[in-house]
Amino acid sequence: MKRKEFLDKMMLGSFGLVGAGSVKSNFLKSFLLSNNDDTRQKVSFDYDWRFHLGDVNNGQKPGYDDHTWRKLNVPHDWSIEGNFSKDNPAGAGGGALPGGIGWYRKKFTIPESKMGKLLFIEFYGVYENSDVWINGHHLGKRPYGYSTYRYELTPYLHYGNQKNEIAVRVDNSHQPNSRWYSGSGICRHVYLIATNKVHVDKWGTYITTPLVNDQMANISIQTKIRSHEKNGQKFTLRTEIYNPDHQKVAEDQIQQTVSNASIAEVQQYLEVKHPVLWSTDSPNLYKAVSIVEQGGKQLDRYETTFGIRYFRFDADSGFYLNGKHTKIRGVCDHHNDLGPLGSAQNYRAIERRLQILKEMGCNAFRTSHNPPTPELLDLADKLGFIVMDEAFDCWDLGKVKYDYHLYWDQWHKRDLEDMILRDRNHPSVFIWSIGNEIPEQWHPKGREIALELAGIVKKLDNTRPITSACNYPNPNNYIIKSGALDLVGINYYDNVYPNAPKMFPGKKFIATETTSALSSRGSYDMPAKKIRVWPTKNHKGMNANYTCSSYDNCVVPWGATHEDNWKMVNKYDYISGMFGWTGFDYLGEPTPYGWPARSSYFGIIDLCGIPKDAFYFYKSQWTSDPVLHIFPHWNWNKGQKVDVWAYSNCDDVELFLNGESLGTKYFDRGNLHVSWKVDFEPGTLKAIGRKNGKIILTKEIHTAGKSANIRLNPDRNTITADGRDLSFITVSVTDDNGNLIPHADDLVHFEISGEGEIVSIGNGHEISHESFLAPQHKVFNGQCMSIVQSTGSKGNIRLKASADGLQSESVEIKTV
Ligand code: GAL
Repeated sequence: MKRKEFLDKMMLGSFGLVGAGSVKSNFLKSFLLSNNDDTRQKVSFDYDWRFHLGDVNNGQKPGYDDHTWRKLNVPHDWSIEGNFSKDNPAGAGGGALPGGIGWYRKKFTIPESKMGKLLFIEFYGVYENSDVWINGHHLGKRPYGYSTYRYELTPYLHYGNQKNEIAVRVDNSHQPNSRWYSGSGICRHVYLIATNKVHVDKWGTYITTPLVNDQMANISIQTKIRSHEKNGQKFTLRTEIYNPDHQKVAEDQIQQTVSNASIAEVQQYLEVKHPVLWSTDSPNLYKAVSIVEQGGKQLDRYETTFGIRYFRFDADSGFYLNGKHTKIRGVCDHHNDLGPLGSAQNYRAIERRLQILKEMGCNAFRTSHNPPTPELLDLADKLGFIVMDEAFDCWDLGKVKYDYHLYWDQWHKRDLEDMILRDRNHPSVFIWSIGNEIPEQWHPKGREIALELAGIVKKLDNTRPITSACNYPNPNNYIIKSGALDLVGINYYDNVYPNAPKMFPGKKFIATETTSALSSRGSYDMPAKKIRVWPTKNHKGMNANYTCSSYDNCVVPWGATHEDNWKMVNKYDYISGMFGWTGFDYLGEPTPYGWPARSSYFGIIDLCGIPKDAFYFYKSQWTSDPVLHIFPHWNWNKGQKVDVWAYSNCDDVELFLNGESLGTKYFDRGNLHVSWKVDFEPGTLKAIGRKNGKIILTKEIHTAGKSANIRLNPDRNTITADGRDLSFITVSVTDDNGNLIPHADDLVHFEISGEGEIVSIGNGHEISHESFLAPQHKVFNGQCMSIVQSTGSKGNIRLKASADGLQSESVEIKTV
């Protein structure tokens, strides 16, 4: 079937497969504003948009005929629906998918009861260069695809039965504008907000905890009350604080006046007795409710989630959270990339990624290299991550032709301010980063700009340190020597760590980016020797099949292996922690190969969320869960010398081949893995792990026989029937005994019925050019991932997977 036919069919849902942003979901149209809520309403505005790929004339005009446009829900990413091609102007570095221009339109009514209210539309992020109109009036333009912004609609609205029309033009046609895959379109959520004329302003609370001890926490709350009334207004602001068990634990009330068309700032201090602190192990959250009243009537009710915690960075000994010395164990990720789902943000997909990282022992996350979608921070608050929130990948000097440098002069102040105002109440945010590998490190302008940016940040929040991720960790670096940074951020260059205190006397340090090791899930080259892979044709470490070996032995020239890097970070207390590049593989930046590869090799976890071996390295070092992981698979040629590695936090590991001991290896000389050279014989490789002489773990790998079955393994068998929730189903090709076939590349066909759709399928293969939206996909090294979404109705989903010559398998997922 031709691609066009396939997409058309797909849009009609005849495969039961719909793609990001589809409307097959018969999910409630929850954007309707209710008549009876008299304070504030924030409702989803994600549903029932019309979309057109390509530019049109007068798309903003009321009455524009859009009935032939595709109906969809946002978040939506049109790039992920396109074909991979080396000719797409984003290049392989941008994921080799198309950009272009797209239009979104949406019609809606506002009940007459809302007359006299203020109405706003809020976009969490549109990539990029969006123009927005309401009923033909231009509301504004926002170039940066990662900023959250809001427009007031009130003056231009129709009430009652007359329809309103919102039009959004998105221009992602100037390429390349990013060093990684950005996605295109309304990639994040949209909300409609209704308030009274006197209300808590946008991002209108600022909560800090200036004093915290066992007995009490002092909570400072600044609240901005905005008035659109013609005369001055007297109001009462009552602020209530609720503890993690939802009990009210503090309250304060204040009367003040706000003049016409202006903002009043209210400062309150509240005391919470015996506070339960927020930490990465126990992410306890409090809630502040700001209630604005006038003559006994509630005008607004606004909620802010916050946490009570204290921390410090020390020049000699690193980072302390709530007084406890803590190494920051983090990864970097382009938050906007959800692998096969593209950039269309989905709460469950983000949550799953953070859960996988948590399981690995991660306690931190860097939003490289831009402000994330707000749900990511909500989840980091809830799951317990220390976030380094980053604003920019470049300033005035660009890195690629059409990146942010084009907008720098006009927009940097606004974009940075908006990030700080939006994110400063999140307990998970610990570090502000004003930029990544900024070219001005080498330019005198770096000093001036760094000071300006630090000034902007400090004015809005001086409770968190500022850093910049520097790949020129040298006293001559203009950004470092400006004095603007509270933390010297070092990207790579771990050879600087031993001398850092001498090079930068009195400074505090964080390894803002490390590692950049390369690997393809399930691919192994022998011997497992360390190789610096230069991204040049046919360099050592590069393979004809475009894979990189998983023995933690391939690194880029500027990087280090996972193991070497962690040893260095762990050795020096004053290096507060690290952010490894990267947690997950991402679309774009396929170093060392370039096209036909179209996604990265840097992930500890592959593009679909299947762990690579390095995952178990970190788990063995970063958690106290018992870990014993041996690799590679056990299908080699007879007599071949095979490197067998084990990651473990046991004291020693003994290896057996077909019952015969190959010796015990000890984690005793600072080595963080143990290894054997084994003459291959088919059969069973068994490892036992001992602690204090006692066997605590056993692991076996068997030589796989012939491909026989498909196995489906959902991450969750029950999901919410909300039209959003996802089940990630790992698909494996196995032999009759359930052993994974290590090099299987079978084409698997999927059929789905009941209350679900397949939204995407991927396999983590960096050179796969298959569509993520097609109803069939090859497995890569035996596995792929089918991502299923609930339609919005309660019931059952049945997914069937079949392939030539293999026993098919079905799985049932409940939607509740
Ligand atoms: C860093 C950069 C990242 C990524 C990485 C790949 O220098 O900050 O964005 O490009 O290299 O190794």
